Amino acid sequence: MPRFIDGHDMKDLTPDKLEKLANSPPDKFGVTHIELFYNKEEDRLYCILDAPNEEAIWKHHESAGLKCEFITEVQQIKTDKMIKSEKMIVLGEMSSRVSHDLRNPLSIIKNSLDLINMRYKDEMDKEMTDYVRRMDRAVSSINVMIGDIVNFAKTRPLMLENNSLLSTIHRVLDSVHTPDNIKIKIPQKDISFEFDLIKLEILFSNLITNAIHAIGEREGEISIKFDEIDHYNVQIQIADSGPGVPEELLPRIFEPLFTTKQYGTGLGLPSCKSIIEQHNGTISISNNPTTVTILLPKHQSVISAIKPDANQ
Ligand SMILES: Nc1ncnc2c1ncn2[C@@H]1O[C@H](COP(=O)(O)OP(=O)(O)OP(=O)(O)O)[C@@H](O)[C@H]1O
Ligand SMILES: [Mg+2]
Repeated sequence: MPRFIDGHDMKDLTPDKLEKLANSPPDKFGVTHIELFYNKEEDRLYCILDAPNEEAIWKHHESAGLKCEFITEVQQIKTDKMIKSEKMIVLGEMSSRVSHDLRNPLSIIKNSLDLINMRYKDEMDKEMTDYVRRMDRAVSSINVMIGDIVNFAKTRPLMLENNSLLSTIHRVLDSVHTPDNIKIKIPQKDISFEFDLIKLEILFSNLITNAIHAIGEREGEISIKFDEIDHYNVQIQIADSGPGVPEELLPRIFEPLFTTKQYGTGLGLPSCKSIIEQHNGTISISNNPTTVTILLPKHQSVISAIKPDANQ
């Protein structure tokens, strides 16, 4: 619908006419008031309206008994900020619909897996038990992800426990399908510290999936490293032999909904960033080779004691 601005000399406008103007729904001419602005020095009211054409606005004024000084058609120029906030509104609506639609079939899968586990436990060989376990974990992570999308702005507080980084990586590698052309290197030595296990599983699952996508069909390698860089911090690095992120896109990849993939949602890295920030850490990406570097404090409960709002 085209957008217009018109101007009214306030001498012509009584308070009840103004109220009518401000709150009128689309009238019989299809005119809707979007916003009203008053200029005190000019004693003039400017209205932003949507209407099928200029003639409809003249007719609208005529039927309401309003005098109008000018009408001009304008085109809205959207700033990046506006586009982003529009995307966020769409995302909010989409997420509540998706979560509603996905939770039911997911609980059917979860119940069926529980039944298989109960009824056929003794008949299943190790391989089968392993498949069922992987499916069960995958369903749990999907459930968490749905929860995170729904609460995008308001993520749940961390559930902190002493966990092993190496077994977290193993669990993720169990549930992510790694194609044969990609080798994954993981550290020998483990580090255990306080973190939210489910959230870090989501984080690694996102980063490893991104690395697998980046390598694509070529022969390649994903190398995961972690080090205790001092008494307080752990550094985790995930490097891949893929082509890297084009330099001009590097500043944008943590933006919600930014994706270069046909079927990507662009929520993976923003979700990783929010998980790491919730743990009071930092995350960054650099090229040559493509490396995600995460810095995580080892003692979350100490931080929570100093900063009571941390981990919320
Ligand atoms: N390891 C990587 N190598 C090259 N580009 C990457 C890598 N990781 C992320 N990117 C770039 O950053 C973009 C955003 O990543 P993000 O994980 O947020 O979304 P996505 O992977 O596109 O979609 P999804 O929501 O399915 O994760 C990707 O589309 C890709 O262009
Ligand atoms: Mg991704």
